[in-house]
Amino acid sequence: MDHKQRKILITGGAGFIGSHLVRLMVNKYPHYHIYNLDKLTYAGNLENLTDVESLPNYTFIKGDITDTAFITELFASHQFDGVIHLAAESHVDRSIANPTAFVETNVLGTVVLLNAAKNCWKSFDDKLFYHVSTDEVYGSLGETGFFVEDTPYDPRSPYSAAKASSDHFVRAYHHTYGFPMVISNCSNNYGAYQFPEKLIPLFINNIKNEKPLPVYGDGKYTRDWLWVVDHARAIDMVYHNGKHGETYNVGGKNEWKNMDLIHLLCDVADEELGREVGSSRSLITFVKDRPGHDRRYAIDATKLETEIGWKASITFKEGLRDTIKWYLSNEEWLTNVTSGAYKEYYQNQYQS
Ligand code: NAD
Ligand code: DAU
Repeated sequence: MDHKQRKILITGGAGFIGSHLVRLMVNKYPHYHIYNLDKLTYAGNLENLTDVESLPNYTFIKGDITDTAFITELFASHQFDGVIHLAAESHVDRSIANPTAFVETNVLGTVVLLNAAKNCWKSFDDKLFYHVSTDEVYGSLGETGFFVEDTPYDPRSPYSAAKASSDHFVRAYHHTYGFPMVISNCSNNYGAYQFPEKLIPLFINNIKNEKPLPVYGDGKYTRDWLWVVDHARAIDMVYHNGKHGETYNVGGKNEWKNMDLIHLLCDVADEELGREVGSSRSLITFVKDRPGHDRRYAIDATKLETEIGWKASITFKEGLRDTIKWYLSNEEWLTNVTSGAYKEYYQNQYQS
């Protein structure tokens, strides 16, 4: 346990992973002050953090990481000891529709933060800039093999190209200026508070509402799923024990072909909804594939496990059932995030 008092800036703390990280950090480190900087885009939601919002060591700041004057002033006035940077545009489909937004937030926003930290920190002793990144920077795997930390970068979507670029900037600041940084590259997260545009929460919501389940292409794409709380635990451990200048891959050795996962999701949701088990499978609808769709991701997290001592805390079947129960019992949260623009776009997109 770290007993030093620290001021830590978490960017994107009102989003899915960020809100779990904020919750973990404010509760685990009452002697730290956690600042959550978030623009509150469609993906940011303060309802994700109602249980921590009145804690004395937590402050929310609404702001945009691409706003240089604002960010410079924020660093000057708060003198943060560390930054854990998660704010990003995070959805691959949206990056295909509008790449520029991903360059602005993910690349430019990261560079604005790097400059503010570098210029504000008179000495780099006891300071750290942590970039939370994705396994998608490594590209796509064939039937076998795993991503390791020195797998060459091969981003293939506008989202992953922007995340790869931001990773390169963070490393470039380390090599050029001796800037204290660490990066982690994680596989697909699932759990509570995920905006229902990503596969798992979208499909739970559609099963609940008996809407079509749009499967891209042949459904044989593979993803390596990790419970979001285990990702937040990994970030905490890497922040405190990671070696500066290093990269750590995060994943739970939990590969699923989309169709297998979707069948499991339908069956568990049917059980929880008291429907005939298997009945929701009839909602499965094959649709046009995602352009440039990466075939398979799989993470080798040996470095994180052996050097930092992290391991996943729950099995996928436990985590998935808990997640389904959470969405089904948090009707108000789901209704609030799926109203307005969401409804027009997602609910009608695949109507036959
Ligand atoms: P998310 O889309 O749920 O949340 C992103 C947050 O960033 C939102 O709260 C949003 O309001 C905020 N934000 C966006 N633009 C901003 C700006 N210009 N200024 C300030 N705040 C802004 O994303 P997530 O799924 O929680 O992902 C968080 C981070 O983790 C991202 O960097 C993502 O690339 C990375 N990551 C995600 C996954 C995953 O499976 N979701 C896996 C690995 C890595
Ligand atoms: O690997 C980490 C990445 O995982 C993160 O960096 C991204 O932020 C996160 O969005 C996620 O990217 P994916 O593209 O893998 O996640 P998504 O939930 O969009 O899709 C998962 C798989 O399901 C993928 O093969 C596409 C497929 N899919 C997705 C949706 C939304 C469908 O078949 N139908 C759908 O409607």
